[in-house]
Amino acid sequence: MKLRTTSFLCLFALLLTATPLPGRAADEQQLLREAREIVARLDKRLKEELQKVLKEEGTVQAVETCHLKAPDIVKDAWRNGWEVRRTSLKVRNLEDAPDKWEYKVLKELDAKNEADAPDSELEHWEVVTVDGQKRFRYMKAIIAKQVCTRCHGKHIHKEVASQLDSLYPFDQARGFEAGDLRGAYSLSKPLSP
Ligand code: HEC
Repeated sequence: MKLRTTSFLCLFALLLTATPLPGRAADEQQLLREAREIVARLDKRLKEELQKVLKEEGTVQAVETCHLKAPDIVKDAWRNGWEVRRTSLKVRNLEDAPDKWEYKVLKELDAKNEADAPDSELEHWEVVTVDGQKRFRYMKAIIAKQVCTRCHGKHIHKEVASQLDSLYPFDQARGFEAGDLRGAYSLSKPLSP
């Protein structure tokens, strides 16, 4: 009988340790899920919008549409305390320039992508303290496709290039090939104390 009680207790203890930890770890998993969902939705929306304007208006006009609409589409993804932006090691819109943390993560994502890491590894999350406040930060790589090289590639059509020159005199976001790390989505949410 005594032996039975002991094994029961052991089993109980084992179950306790096997149960996922409540609190922080579980919160982080939930935040990670939310971040991935926001990115998936935003990525889909941007790509659909791009396909549509390329088809209906052509590349030159699409530059202006991207210029006017992309920032609003990204802003529209903000919800439930999440701040959402795009960033890159070579930016077109100067407002997308990375902060120190984003720069470090972009470098890591770039190295992983160059080493042919699978898409599932091209993300990074971390709890960081910013101005005394803890935040959950998440980044997901954006890989260039062939269609992106029309406006971000090495050989950009003359008319497209001059449209880009006039809208973005400090444009660095050129010279990419399909498969390169074009940039990343960067999300951040304050953690409740
Ligand atoms: C029709 C031209 C055009 C095409 C095609 C295009 N882009 Fe862009 N891209 C732009 C413009 C213009 C901006 C700047 C938008 C702004 O002012 O915020 C931009 C900005 C970006 C940014 C934000 C970072 C930065 O440099 O400011 C990323 C990331 C990006 N593009 C990725 C892509 C990807 C990935 C593709 C292909 C799926 C793509 N783009 C195709 C014109 C284009």
